[in-house]
Amino acid sequence: MTNMNSKYRQAIKTLSDNLPFTPDIAIVLGSGLGDLADKLHKIKSIPTTEIPGYPKSTVHGHKGFIHFAEYDSRKILLFQGRIHFYEGYDIPECLLPVYLIHKTGCKKVILTNAAGGVNPSFVPGDLMLIDAFYTFNIKKELSRFLRKISGEQKNSFLDFPSRKISETIKLASLKSGVFLQHGSYWFGKGPSYETKAEIQMMLKLGIDAVGMSTAHEAVYAKYLGMEVGGISLITNYAAGLSPTKLSHQEVIDTANEAKDRFEKLVKNTFSLL
Ligand code: HPA
Repeated sequence: MTNMNSKYRQAIKTLSDNLPFTPDIAIVLGSGLGDLADKLHKIKSIPTTEIPGYPKSTVHGHKGFIHFAEYDSRKILLFQGRIHFYEGYDIPECLLPVYLIHKTGCKKVILTNAAGGVNPSFVPGDLMLIDAFYTFNIKKELSRFLRKISGEQKNSFLDFPSRKISETIKLASLKSGVFLQHGSYWFGKGPSYETKAEIQMMLKLGIDAVGMSTAHEAVYAKYLGMEVGGISLITNYAAGLSPTKLSHQEVIDTANEAKDRFEKLVKNTFSLL
């Protein structure tokens, strides 16, 4: 049985020994979005290399720090760097950050990512509130994991993503003047970007954005009883929708250009939650 408690006992202990507070909200920062952590008043930072068993992020733009910080009297837990399935990690490894968030007693989490825009009205630099997740591509692995830990064949996900967090993010967008798209997020296993044909299929299905993270983290966070919200930064036109060849550098460059708006939106969300 995949028991996260016994597998990650040392990791949990290291985190609880270093816990300065019970966070009001946690956020996982996606590709190129990690700088938010440096804009808040940090109380404590732990390199993930100091957490026993914590997988090492191998992707450029993912630093590998856990920060405890404050903003507008909110207590915030930030994960600067994420673990991807395409890096070769298994589901328990990918989901360790979510499990650790849960173990701190935190009840709300915002998951962020960089994504390709499929919706023809999206342009690189847009921020998108995730209002639905497509988990098909990870369903087998995720269901097997959830069945092992819960013993249940079927799990249901109502109020997912959380209506309360989503409404708060929308309000934060109005308050901060940061334009916000909204739409659905398709999980692709990666590591390659999609084929043109796959993007054409997504267009026909009305899918809005595609990425290689977040969906399984969101499902697990909900399973653990947390309220979950999601924000994508559209960093590029999805494959075949523009003449440019996709690259991770384009993702990072767009994230750099858009990060001030992302940070404004997220800080306003913290204040309103
Ligand atoms: N596809 C998948 N993942 C991504 C993309 C994309 O176009 N952009 C950023 N992450």
